[in-house]
Amino acid sequence: MNELQREYPEEIERILAKYPPENKRSAVMPLLYLAQRRQGYIPPQAIQEIAQILELSTTEVASVAGFYSLFHEQPEGRWRIQVCTDLPCALRGADEFLKRLCEALGVAVGGTTADGLFTVEEVKCLAACHRAPVFQLQGDGEIKYYESQSIDTVLALVEELRCKAESKKEGA
Ligand code: FES
Repeated sequence: MNELQREYPEEIERILAKYPPENKRSAVMPLLYLAQRRQGYIPPQAIQEIAQILELSTTEVASVAGFYSLFHEQPEGRWRIQVCTDLPCALRGADEFLKRLCEALGVAVGGTTADGLFTVEEVKCLAACHRAPVFQLQGDGEIKYYESQSIDTVLALVEELRCKAESKKEGA
């Protein structure tokens, strides 16, 4: 029994019960979510543990984790602002939006603000191409989508989240 199994025995059992034993590899995504819940990202050890549970190779599990922007292989900011820069969005100003957001936060793409609150990332299509600039915000166990954004609206959101982080600190 590995660490993930020791920590989440019931959840893992529940997840595996949803799939016939011969198709248990299909549980890879829910198990990745479970592992990510622990530390906010999926360390190599968790990849190995999931591979062990599902009798897959670590490469197979790692390739799923690497494919989806919802899984993170590194610890980063509390919130991830993931801006779509695929071609349709790029044609509607996504690159400029991303550039200005990075400048305002003082980070490069992929970087995290000094206070550890925000990581800015580029992602592929978020299925709202006609409403660019769009981004998804991941953090605090939630994913939210923001469409038809401007630099002012995203910075207002950043400010709101900063206040939330600050008020939590004061209340702690
Ligand atoms: S290309 Fe950006 S949402 Fe589709």
